[in-house]
Amino acid sequence: MTDVSEDRGSRLVEVRNLKTYFFTRRGIVKAVDGVSFTIERGHTLGLVGESGCGKSVTSLSILRLISPPGRIVGGEILFDGVDLLKLDDETMRRYRGKKIAMIFQDPMTSLNPVYTVGYQIAEAILAHHDIPKREAWQRAVELMRAVAIPDPEQRAKSYPHELSGGMRQRVMIAMAISCHPELLIADEPTTALDVTIQAQILELLEHLRRTMNLSMLLITHDLGVVAETADRVAVMYAGKLVEIASTRDIFTDPQHPYTIGLLRCVPRMTTAGQDDQRRRLETITGSVPDLVNLPPGCPFVPRCPEAHSTCRQGEIAFTEVSPGHFVRCVARGSEVIPHPSELAVGVESRAGGGD
Ligand SMILES: Nc1ncnc2c1ncn2[C@@H]1O[C@H](COP(=O)(O)OP(=O)(O)O)[C@@H](O)[C@H]1O
Ligand SMILES: [Mg+2]
Repeated sequence: MTDVSEDRGSRLVEVRNLKTYFFTRRGIVKAVDGVSFTIERGHTLGLVGESGCGKSVTSLSILRLISPPGRIVGGEILFDGVDLLKLDDETMRRYRGKKIAMIFQDPMTSLNPVYTVGYQIAEAILAHHDIPKREAWQRAVELMRAVAIPDPEQRAKSYPHELSGGMRQRVMIAMAISCHPELLIADEPTTALDVTIQAQILELLEHLRRTMNLSMLLITHDLGVVAETADRVAVMYAGKLVEIASTRDIFTDPQHPYTIGLLRCVPRMTTAGQDDQRRRLETITGSVPDLVNLPPGCPFVPRCPEAHSTCRQGEIAFTEVSPGHFVRCVARGSEVIPHPSELAVGVESRAGGGD
């Protein structure tokens, strides 16, 4: 297949200062707290961070699939210039599936066990296209061929439980691309799979990105997964982005102590099989903090080998350490923006002192 890359590079998605909170009895869980990023057409952004950092909530927010007690409380999600947060429900429904598709970690939870996979892909097509059922079935078979499912005519008649995990994920991908979306959100698409199958699925996603000029948001807790697949990587910690840069910069010149910690958990994949020695992410000592009542400043302080007395004195601003490489860390020269309360005190004292 040929590359479709005429308009590769123009901006498709721009998330600005997104805030998604859960209003629970324990307090407000700030799952996503001021997240901003862009995704260019035909590019892949990797969103990486440990479990509980807010990655899934970020992706569900883009699709506007947050339900109570959760709510998107602020920000903008521009898709091709249109703010998704301002669309009426019906228009948003049309965006979902048609322009933006999503695949999840466990295809079993998204596939219906009582229908054949061919039927389910055909249904996904029929949801957005007014075509005869027979034609939808034929397209389903072709999609299964496109995602390299062997013997698709026969496999289309299989039920989900009759397929392997890798094949089921291919079915989900076939369903996701059935309406030629512009953005594919893949939330831990390979986490449940064996390492060799993981590599095959990533290869398939990469192939589809190139041939369909798809933009991708690839979410994973494993930096190894984005190494070969993403153009840029955003590192998320406790509801906030701490670093964003080209994949190459993230791997060769990581800046945030959290990114550096994550990288230590990535196995060196020089030869096949070494992956067995994969260390777990938990090798960063400590764990992701409770997102209710987080203390101000950098949330990584309790686990940070480079923590500084100023890290907690205000919001840490992003600083650009090299072109396109942003980090939020006092030790890397980020500015500390005092809290509104402290600002107010400052203003008062200045006012009091006269001018
Ligand atoms: N329905 C919910 N109610 C309360 N808290 C939630 C809900 N869904 C997610 N959260 C919280 O939001 C935070 C981020 O979750 P999530 O986005 O799923 O993390 P990740 O995908 O990075 O593992 C977690 O602290 C989680 O407990
Ligand atoms: Mg998740």
